[in-house]
Amino acid sequence: MDIGYTSAHLRTAAVDAVRAPSLHNTQPWRLRLRGGGIEVLADPARRLPATDPSGWGVRIACGAALFNLRIALAVAGIPARVRLRPDPAEPDLLARLVPDVPRRPTPGEQSLHAAIPRRFSNRMPFWPNPVPADARWRLGEAARAEQCWLELLIGVSAVAAFGEIARGAHRVLERDPAYRSERERWLRQEPAPDGVPASAGGPLSEPQDVLPARGFGGRERAPGRDFEPEPLVGVLGSVGNTAVDQVVAGQALQRVLLTATDAGLSVSMLSQPIEVPTAREQLRLSLGRFGTPQMVLRIGYGQPGRPTPRRAVDEVLDLPVVPA
Ligand SMILES: Cc1cc2nc3c(=O)[nH]c(=O)nc-3n(C[C@H](O)[C@H](O)[C@H](O)COP(=O)(O)O)c2cc1C
Repeated sequence: MDIGYTSAHLRTAAVDAVRAPSLHNTQPWRLRLRGGGIEVLADPARRLPATDPSGWGVRIACGAALFNLRIALAVAGIPARVRLRPDPAEPDLLARLVPDVPRRPTPGEQSLHAAIPRRFSNRMPFWPNPVPADARWRLGEAARAEQCWLELLIGVSAVAAFGEIARGAHRVLERDPAYRSERERWLRQEPAPDGVPASAGGPLSEPQDVLPARGFGGRERAPGRDFEPEPLVGVLGSVGNTAVDQVVAGQALQRVLLTATDAGLSVSMLSQPIEVPTAREQLRLSLGRFGTPQMVLRIGYGQPGRPTPRRAVDEVLDLPVVPA
């Protein structure tokens, strides 16, 4: 096919792309139209230097935005062929999408697309109802479809052992004043187009909690509304841990999150044990899996909630200048 994507295609797909999750809702992406291709770039100005010194979080978020772009373009009837990191001379250029053969979207693509505006991080306690086997299977399939794996921790002792690793990582991070002040800076008490709204932060942590919460929370929890004692914890991992592997993992993350949303499930993310190298290694060894853990998910049935704000699409677009 020799025609390329247009500004109109990019504008429409970008509305979905920016709904992707990102560390502290920093939205560290840019989208560019060049020679009929749509390009996803990391925005280094939006990286968190203390929380994300290596840029791992930026690449996960951009991978998630890339997945949304792929689904949006597929649903528009012009699916993309994707090349990751196409130009070594431009390391911030993470992906380039060019039109593949036009076709009708599949029902699966349509369901994932419909889930994009409904997905949000749910940091509230979930109901104790277990996640049924078929939903667990679908989540694993979603990760596998994107060349990643999702290990669901089975049993109280596996979750307790993970909780110990995660709380240890949380304590390490919390000792760093730069990390704490970064988190404070991105916590929003007033309406804002980025950052984590206090209303989305979940409740205050309590000593009996199995999993550590990032500390966006401010509200006391209602009596009897503790976190589920046996949360379903999933660890998402990739084959390797290069920049490309992290973009691949970001796409898998978003596919798992949208599949969960489509199945009526709620998810919150916890990445403290990914951000602390010794904890990440402990987690990797505890799973006995080949590859690298890239994200941890708490999955269950949650109370309704609301998607968080995003910047206007125009702020992330880089379109060719049309001569007057
Ligand atoms: C790489 C990455 C790491 C994240 N780590 C955490 C975390 O440790 N704790 C948490 O509550 N949310 C975490 N999140 C979720 C973001 O805070 C969330 O995506 C962002 O605030 C936007 O909100 P939304 O997911 O509701 O759209 C993470 C997201 C990404 C992409």
